[in-house]
This record gives sequence, C-alpha cells and structure tokens, in this order.
Amino acid sequence: MSIDSYTLERFIDDLRRLAASAVDEASLLGQIAPLAQRVVAERGWLRADMYRADPQLGFGTSLLHVEADQSLFVVVDSWLPGRGVPPHDHDTWALVVGVEGSERNIFWQRLDDATRPGYAELQRMDEQCIAPGQVLAMPSGSIHSVINETPHTSLSFHVYGRHLNHTARRQFDPEHHRELPFIIDAR
Ligand SMILES: [Fe+2]
Repeated sequence: MSIDSYTLERFIDDLRRLAASAVDEASLLGQIAPLAQRVVAERGWLRADMYRADPQLGFGTSLLHVEADQSLFVVVDSWLPGRGVPPHDHDTWALVVGVEGSERNIFWQRLDDATRPGYAELQRMDEQCIAPGQVLAMPSGSIHSVINETPHTSLSFHVYGRHLNHTARRQFDPEHHRELPFIIDAR
C-alpha cells in the first residue's frame, strides 16, 4: 500500500471532519461524493465475504463503520442477480457509489400527507443505473427502490448520516398503498 493510499480510515476521518462543519446536507453530499468515489476506487476495504447475501432478502449488508452515537454509517451492500429492495426512505441523507455490476435505482414521490398510519401513496418518477464508480446522492426524504437486473451479484458502497436501524425509515408497497418499518441486518 503506498503512502498516498486513500484508505477507509482516511475516508472516515474526512467524513467526520466534513460532517462536523457542514452547513447543510446538499453541501455535505457534494463534499463527500468525490471522497467516496476515491475510497471505492482504491478497494483496500473490500473483502470476499462482502459478496454474501441473504437468499430470502435478496441482499446482504456488511458494516464498515458507524460512530458511537450511531451517526456516519458506512456499509457495503450486495445484491443477488434479479433481486432488489422495495421502495424505502432513509430518514437521513444517503450517498451510494457503485463498486461492481450495475444497480437500477428507481425514484418515487410520496403523494399523501403521511398522516394515516401504515398508509402511503407513491408515484414512480425517474430512475438511474449505478455502474462502478458512479455516485448517487440522496438527501433526507428521498424514496428509492433498487434492483440488480444483471446475472451477477452486484456491490455498492453506502454512506448514511445515521445507522439505518436507528432512524424512523420506512419501506413501501406502492401497489397496496402500505407503509412498513424497515430494519436491516448490518454486521
Ligand atoms: Fe436505500
């Protein structure tokens, strides 16, 4: 490893510093994006077990970092071929960088006023495919679904403002207008 390697530890240090001084989410996401692309390009953090995924869920989550107060949650997600995740929000900001393969992200807009428990109306909007090195920034409130339409497991690098099991994030069933809690297994 050269002395100039942009390691995960250096990325986390930068992330901590930028998050502490950020004036707003948009500027923070803009500052983190090139650094996340850089640490993804160097791949020193990548391990073979990160390709594992839960066959029932269709994806797997490997924890790279979280602060003691549950902020600055960094994970690698793997997606089995043909599998994905239903529409969900994060209840915090999110940044995704493609590592391997291609993942289609579909964005949704919530139409109802979120006052009826368990009920949600969603409208499908635009979409974006994430290839290796490409970045997707999602401010708080964004709703997306993900699918790996390729015949191979895909991998992506994710950074969130908070551990997703310590937020009030939800997943949605747009067809049946349902809203549900969304808990993941991140180890
Ligand atoms: Fe997500």
